[in-house]
Amino acid sequence: MKNYSREDIVNSVPQKGFFGHPKGLFTLFFTEFWERFSYYGMRALLLFYMYSEVVDGGLGMEDGTAKSIMAVYGSLVYMSGIIGGWIADRLLGTQRSIFYGGVLIMAGHIVLALPAGVTALFISMFLIILGTGLLKPNVSSIVGDMYHEQDNRRDAGFSIFYMGINMGAFIAPFIVGTLGQKYNYHLGFGMAAIGMLLGLIVFLITRKKNLALAGTQVPNPLVGDEKKKVFKRFGLGALLLIILGFITIPTGILTVNSFTVLISLLGIIIPTAYFIVMYRSKKTNEVEKSRLLAYIPLFITSVIFWAIYEQGAIILADYAHKRTELSIFGIELHSSWFQSLSPLFVITLAPVFAALWIKLGDRQPSTTRKFSFGLFFAGLSFIIMIAPALMYGTEALVHPIWLTLSFLLAVIGELCLSPVGLSATTKLAPKAFSAQTMSLWFLSNAAAQALNAQLVKLYHPSTEVIYFGAIGGFAILISVLLFMSAPKIQKYMMGVK
Ligand code: PHE
Repeated sequence: MKNYSREDIVNSVPQKGFFGHPKGLFTLFFTEFWERFSYYGMRALLLFYMYSEVVDGGLGMEDGTAKSIMAVYGSLVYMSGIIGGWIADRLLGTQRSIFYGGVLIMAGHIVLALPAGVTALFISMFLIILGTGLLKPNVSSIVGDMYHEQDNRRDAGFSIFYMGINMGAFIAPFIVGTLGQKYNYHLGFGMAAIGMLLGLIVFLITRKKNLALAGTQVPNPLVGDEKKKVFKRFGLGALLLIILGFITIPTGILTVNSFTVLISLLGIIIPTAYFIVMYRSKKTNEVEKSRLLAYIPLFITSVIFWAIYEQGAIILADYAHKRTELSIFGIELHSSWFQSLSPLFVITLAPVFAALWIKLGDRQPSTTRKFSFGLFFAGLSFIIMIAPALMYGTEALVHPIWLTLSFLLAVIGELCLSPVGLSATTKLAPKAFSAQTMSLWFLSNAAAQALNAQLVKLYHPSTEVIYFGAIGGFAILISVLLFMSAPKIQKYMMGVK
C-alpha cells in the first residue's frame, strides 16, 4: 500500500460540506450518533432488565449484583479501547476497525434481543465490549485526522462531534427505552441493533467520498516476523484464558463477584502501569516527565468525577425506578427517560460554556482549576440528593425535580472537565505515546467504573444519606485541595495552560 503523508490525507478530504467543516465530519457524526444511540438506549434498559422479576420479563438478578455488572460492563467497554487503538494502529487502520466494531456491536444487540436469558446477556456483553473498543476511540481519532495541523476549526470540529454523541444519547431512551419498558425488553434491545445498523449504513455509503484517505492507513504496521510473534502470543493468551475459565468456573473460583473484584483491580493496575512505562521510557524527556507528574492529579480527579457521573446510569437510574414519582402534569413517565436528561443538558449548555470561556479569554481558569470545578459540581450533584431523603424519608416517592437537579449539576461539572480533559491528555502525554492518548483518556472513565463496581453495592435506601453524603463530600474535599494546589500543578505543566 502506498504511504500517504498527513498532508495528502487531509487534502483528500473535501474540506467543506458540513457546517463549514470537512465533509467527513458528517460521516463520523452520524456513525457515532447511532453507535451512542444503541449503547445508551441499551444501558437505559439494562439495569431494569437484569433486576426485574422473571414474570415481568427480567432476569430476576439480585439488585447489588445487577448494579455491579452495569459498572464492570461500562468499565470494560472503555478499557477495550486499548485493544481497539492497537488494532487500528498496527493491523487494520481506523476505517476498517470502525466497520468491524460496528458489526460486532450490532451483533451484540441482536443477541440481547433474543429471549435467551443470562447466557445471551454475557455473549452480548462480550461482543459489545470488543466492538466498542474497535469503534469508539477510532471514530474519535479520525476527527482529528481531517484537519491541517494549524486549522483553527479543529476544536469546533470536536465540539460538533460531541454534540453527535449526546444527540444519540438523548433520543435513545425515548425510543429504545419506551419500546423496552412499555412492550418488551427484547424489543427495545432489537431497536438498539437497528440503530447500529443505520450507523453502519451511513458509514458505508458515505465513507469513500467523505473520508477519502483519512483512516485508511495502518500507521505502524506489524511487519514480517513481528506479525507471527504477536499472533502466537495472542493465540497462547486466549488459550490460557480459556483453560483458566474451564478450571475456575466449575470450581466456583470465578464467579460474577470475583470477576468484579478482578476488573476493579485492573482498573487501577492498567493506568498505573501506563504511567510507569511512560515515565521510565527513554523516549520521554525531562520536560515531558514533569508534565506527566502534573497529569497524575488531573487523572485522579477525572476518575473521581466519572465515578460519580457514571452512577447516573446505575444509582440514579435505580432512584428513578424506585424512589421517584413517575407521573407529572398527568403524563406517565418511564424510568428510562431520565437517562435523557444529561445529554439534553449537555446539548443545551455546551454552547453557553463555550461562549463563557471565549468571553473570559485570558481570564479563564487554568486547566487544573477547570478540573477542580468539574469535580466540585459532581460532588454537589450527590450532596443535593441528601435533601429529599431528609425531607421525605427514604421510603417515599419524591418529585422528579430532584433527579433533574442532580443531573444538571453533574453536567455543569462535565462541561468544566470533559472538553479540556482530552486536550489536556494530548498536551501532557509524552510525544512518543501520542497515539495512545485517546486510550489514556478513556482509561480514566474505565478506572472510574471499575471502582464503581465495588461502590454501587453499598447503596441501599437505608444507606442513602451516608452514601450520597460520603461520596459527594469526598469529591468536594478533593476538588478544594486541587483548587488550592492548582498554581503548583500548573508549574509542573511547563507552559501548558
Ligand atoms: N458521554 C461520554 C461518551 O459517551 C462518556 C465518556 C467519557 C466516554 C470519557 C469515554 C471517555 O463519549
